[in-house]
Amino acid sequence: MTELQVKQAVEKFEALIREQSARSDKIKEIGDAVDYSKLDKIVIGICGGDGIGPEITKRSEEVLKFLLADDVKAGKIEFKEIEGLTIENRIAHMKPIPDDVLEELKSCDVILKGPTTTPQAGDGMPNIESANVAMRKALDLFANVRPVKIPEEGINWTFFRENTEGAYAVGSKGFNVTDDLAIDFVVTTTEGTNRIAKLAYEYARRNNLDRCSIITKANVIKTTDGKFLNLCKEVAKDYPEITTDEWYIDILTAKLLDEKRRKDFKVLILPNLYGDIVTDEAAEMQGGVGTAGSANIGKKYAMFEAIHGSAPRMVQEGRAKYADPCSMLRASVMLLSHIGKQEEADKLEKALDFCMFEDKKLTLTGRDTGCTCEEYAKYVMENIK
Ligand code: IPM
Ligand code: MG
Repeated sequence: MTELQVKQAVEKFEALIREQSARSDKIKEIGDAVDYSKLDKIVIGICGGDGIGPEITKRSEEVLKFLLADDVKAGKIEFKEIEGLTIENRIAHMKPIPDDVLEELKSCDVILKGPTTTPQAGDGMPNIESANVAMRKALDLFANVRPVKIPEEGINWTFFRENTEGAYAVGSKGFNVTDDLAIDFVVTTTEGTNRIAKLAYEYARRNNLDRCSIITKANVIKTTDGKFLNLCKEVAKDYPEITTDEWYIDILTAKLLDEKRRKDFKVLILPNLYGDIVTDEAAEMQGGVGTAGSANIGKKYAMFEAIHGSAPRMVQEGRAKYADPCSMLRASVMLLSHIGKQEEADKLEKALDFCMFEDKKLTLTGRDTGCTCEEYAKYVMENIK
C-alpha cells in the first residue's frame, strides 16, 4: 500500500463521517409524524418497478381502488401512477431514483411500490445504489415493519427493521483501498436507533404484545451493534409492562425454527442487515417470500412494498403473469391501516387470510400449474366482505 492510497482512503472516510454526522443532526430536527385524518386529500402513488413488479402492483392497485372507491369519488383519496422507476431509466440517468421521479414521489403521501432490480457488483450493470435503499433514505423511511403470521401455529411476529442505517447507510460507498483491501462501513446513530426502538415498543403497547426482542451481534460487532442494543434497552425502561429480551442474530435464526419456542417471539427489533435477512427466513416459513408485505415508515412519507425482489427470471421464462400478488396485497393492508382506513385494512386482511390459509381454492405455483396473479387478485376481491 502506498502513502497516496492511505491518504485517499482517509479522505473518503472523512467525507463519510461528515455526511453521516450531518444526517444524524438532521434527524433531530424532524417534527411529528403526519396526521392523515387532518389532510384534505391523501395521494397514493403507484410505482410498478421492474420484473414482476408491474404485474403484482397493478393487481394490488385494482384491489385498493375497489376498497377505496367511495373516498376516490369524494375526492378524499387520489391515485397517482408514477412512471420511470425502472432499471432502464435509472441506468439512463445513472441515478438510483431519477430527479423527476423523486419529485413525483414527494408529491404523494404514501406509495405502493413494486420491487425494483438492484445492480450488484459483477453483473455488468453500473454501480447504482438500490432504488429501495435510495428511496428509504431520500424519504427518510426509518422503520421497516414486516409482519409474519402462521395462525395454526400461533405465530404472530412483527419485525421492526431499522431502515436507513447499519450496513446500508453507506452501503454503496465502501471502497477498495488497494487491489487487496476492500472496506465497508456500518453506521449507528443515537437518534436513528431511538426512533425505531420507540416505534416498536409503542406498537407492542398499542397491540397488547407483551414481549420485545432486541436482535444484534453485539458480541462481535461491538461498537455499532453494542450501541443499538444499549439504546434499545434504555427505551425499554419506559415500557415496564413489556418483557424485553436480547438475542444474537445467529441463534435467533435457529430459534425461529424451534417449534417449541418460536411462538413466544412477538415484536423483534433489528439493525438493518439482520432485519433484511431474518425477514426473508420468516416469510419463507409463512409460505414464501411472495406472501409477505413490508411497510417503510417515516414521519412525513411512507412506502409499502413486497419484501422480495423483482424476480427477473420469472419474466425471462415468461412466467410473470403467475407471480404471487399476496406480498403486495399484504403491503396494501398496511398502507390502508397507516392512512387510517382500518376498516378497509381489516376487510382485506380477512379476505387474504381466508384465501391463503383457509379456503385455498386457488393456489399460486409461480407457473402454469397454478392460477395467475390476476385470477388470485380477483379471488381475494370476491372474498372481501
Ligand atoms: C428488501 C430487499 C432490499 C434490501 C434490496 C432489494 C436492496 O432485500 O427490501 O429486503 O436489502 O433491503
Ligand atoms: Mg431483503
